[in-house]
Amino acid sequence: MQSVFSSPNPILFGPGSAELTGEKLKGLGCTKVLVVYDPGIRDAGIADKIVGIIEAAGIEVVRFDRVEADPPDWMVEEAGALGVREQVDGVVGLGGGSSLDTAKGAKLLLTNPPPISQYFGREGVVTRPSKPLVVIPTTAGTGSETTPGGVITDTKKGIKTNIAGVGCRIDLGIVDPELTVGLPPAVTAATGMDALCHAVESYTSALSNSFAEITAREAIRLVGKYLVRAYENGSDMEAREGMMLASTLGGMSMSGPLCHLAHDIGKTLGAKFHVPHGNGCASCLPQVLEAVAEAVPERVRYVAECLGAEIPAGASAGEIGAAARATVQALMKRIELPNLRSFGLRKEEILAVVPEGVEMMQQGLTRLFGRGTSPVPATRERVTDIVSRAYDEN
Ligand SMILES: [Fe+2]
Repeated sequence: MQSVFSSPNPILFGPGSAELTGEKLKGLGCTKVLVVYDPGIRDAGIADKIVGIIEAAGIEVVRFDRVEADPPDWMVEEAGALGVREQVDGVVGLGGGSSLDTAKGAKLLLTNPPPISQYFGREGVVTRPSKPLVVIPTTAGTGSETTPGGVITDTKKGIKTNIAGVGCRIDLGIVDPELTVGLPPAVTAATGMDALCHAVESYTSALSNSFAEITAREAIRLVGKYLVRAYENGSDMEAREGMMLASTLGGMSMSGPLCHLAHDIGKTLGAKFHVPHGNGCASCLPQVLEAVAEAVPERVRYVAECLGAEIPAGASAGEIGAAARATVQALMKRIELPNLRSFGLRKEEILAVVPEGVEMMQQGLTRLFGRGTSPVPATRERVTDIVSRAYDEN
């Protein structure tokens, strides 16, 4: 098998590494930076802490503190315009995936004129290099510090789309597990499931490869060992560090294989109904694993066993799939993850948009790569069955 691995972003990992933010920005030549975050990070005091560290290094700070979930294109343009107006020479993204993606868009717009919609998509988009970007995740889930692009909501079309290329490239990811200690349990649970989905989907993707296997397997093992611990005791630093590493490795594992059904479903639920990303992606994971077991049973067995299942040798693909489904369902109950019904959505309204959205995403990937990432055909009927059962059973 031919395998290509590309993980373009330098990462500084470990407890206390955020203390080096100012020094690292100075090393990148920054004198005035745009710091991008959301109101939750502001209220938790994390923004003031990081801004203090940056200012102590003699770097001026301009704050953009209005990041919204599922970053809409107009908001990313506001952040970029602020950076241009203030003539910043660097950008810092601080927070969860939405803040990091907004920061990527803001960096892009420092040297590439708006609207940002002209840079949407994976094909034929060329962007100019821009100022340095440092990202500092405060959740263990998105893995956005490892990826070459960002996810932005195209508000005209009502879909999530990508920006990529040199214009939004990360110059350094600072991954400090200490920043996750104050996360509420519900956020630990949802973001941790996002990390699990990244690793599980890249490991079982039709485009998986040797490098993805190594990073994904370790990420899955770490989630199995530490997610419940981090959920039950947010101050358990070993668990927090394990989950942060799982998140970063999960992000790296997506390079090449990408994700498939769970994320396609989650992205559609996010774009149409604003279901939080981790919750949306995890909402159907048990049934997705059961469905893909027919194509990749031994990989599904590995996932299930890492999460605590005991599956007899010689089990059929169907038995492995059922065990994986039950194991992930039990994990989701243990960490009190809200199910689809708890978001106040009717099954009919979900089924009216999700199967079509997933099919379109897989068709788009087929045009780019010659085949979709789902290891089983992502027909509307199959996705309807997955979502319908997830709605009723999880
Ligand atoms: Fe994700």
